[in-house]
Amino acid sequence: MQAGLDGVVVAETTLSEVDGAAGRLILRGSPVEAIAGREPFESLAARLWQGLSPIGETPEGVRRALGTARRQAFELLAPLFEPAKRLSAIEALRLGLAGLSDADSETPHYLVTGAIPVFLAATSRVKRGLAPIAPDPDAGHAADFLRMLHGRTPEEEAAYALDAYLATVCEHGMNASTFTARVIASTQAGTIAAVVGALGALKGPLHGGAPGPVLDMLDAIGTPERAADWIQAELDAGRRLMGFGHRIYRVRDPRADVLKSVVRRLQRGGSERLAFAEAVEREARAALARHKPERPLDTNVEFYTALLLEAVGLDRELFTPVFAMGRVAGWTAHIFEQERTGRLMRPQSTYVGPRPVDATTRA
Ligand code: ACO
Repeated sequence: MQAGLDGVVVAETTLSEVDGAAGRLILRGSPVEAIAGREPFESLAARLWQGLSPIGETPEGVRRALGTARRQAFELLAPLFEPAKRLSAIEALRLGLAGLSDADSETPHYLVTGAIPVFLAATSRVKRGLAPIAPDPDAGHAADFLRMLHGRTPEEEAAYALDAYLATVCEHGMNASTFTARVIASTQAGTIAAVVGALGALKGPLHGGAPGPVLDMLDAIGTPERAADWIQAELDAGRRLMGFGHRIYRVRDPRADVLKSVVRRLQRGGSERLAFAEAVEREARAALARHKPERPLDTNVEFYTALLLEAVGLDRELFTPVFAMGRVAGWTAHIFEQERTGRLMRPQSTYVGPRPVDATTRA
């Protein structure tokens, strides 16, 4: 039995390859560095859905369809904005997506992708005592989210940075949330159920819940000279450093560098905050190498995600739901792929509990 399913192959996919030894990520034939930050999120989504969804996908077609989907989601989900107020942002999003039906659209992959920024922005505003802002179907997906959230047209650089982030995280092999989506899709439960399940898996700190805690860690460290002692004390206490380590990568996560260069660009060459984060990263990598010499533990995507989303001006409770805003493109592409196989995913377990007493062996 393989407790964490390490090394177990559960599907063939045409979507991405995560090469953990080389630290390489290939998305539909292209290295992540060649496309993320160079093509908009809509173009990456079109690449992922192309040949799998029932319609021909083009970047321009996806941009238009997502605009329409955002508008439809704003109308459908308006009754849920207020009830979501008492929930954290990720729980609110779970409620919002659960309020959709596959019957609402002939193309639920657009509807669910469009619904995420709409519901996040609207519920964040309602929580702050502000009125929700309707989507602009002509805007780019990332820019429209920032506009709906902040109530003003975002600066071009901030919209670019968020867009590059969404493109960078849109797909990543058989991670826990994608696996969840595929298991649910294999039961023919439909797109919405599979995405709601995937979102549940993403929420945990061992998967998508790490970037908020990365900033908590930077806050707790405070200054570069405190980094070494703080990190050592965490490791001595048996706690994990957020933003480091990965089940598959044995070297640096290639997405970390893509995101770091976007942060640098956003901050016009760097900032004190970035320099501090780099100092913490150096200390953490060195401490982890001493802590687990037999297991290479390096920076993962979440470390610079935290810096990027902070620089874009997002509250840390939005970090994980914004991850979902990008990853939903991969989830829905995997759902299409899984549905095509037609095969129910149904593994087995080894029973180690008590056995009934056999009547024939009883005295
Ligand atoms: N800090 C300290 N120790 C660590 C860390 C870390 N960040 N990551 C792994 N380790 C330790 C483990 O505790 C384990 O020690 P043990 O053998 O004494 O139990 C050892 O290193 C080996 O762990 P792995 O088997 O490689 O870890 P696993 O594959 O189970 O976990 C994970 C991967 C969950 C990402 C882990 O590295 C972690 O918890 N990191 C911190 C949280 C985080 O950054 N999550 C975001 C991941 S990226 C993403 O999902 C988008």
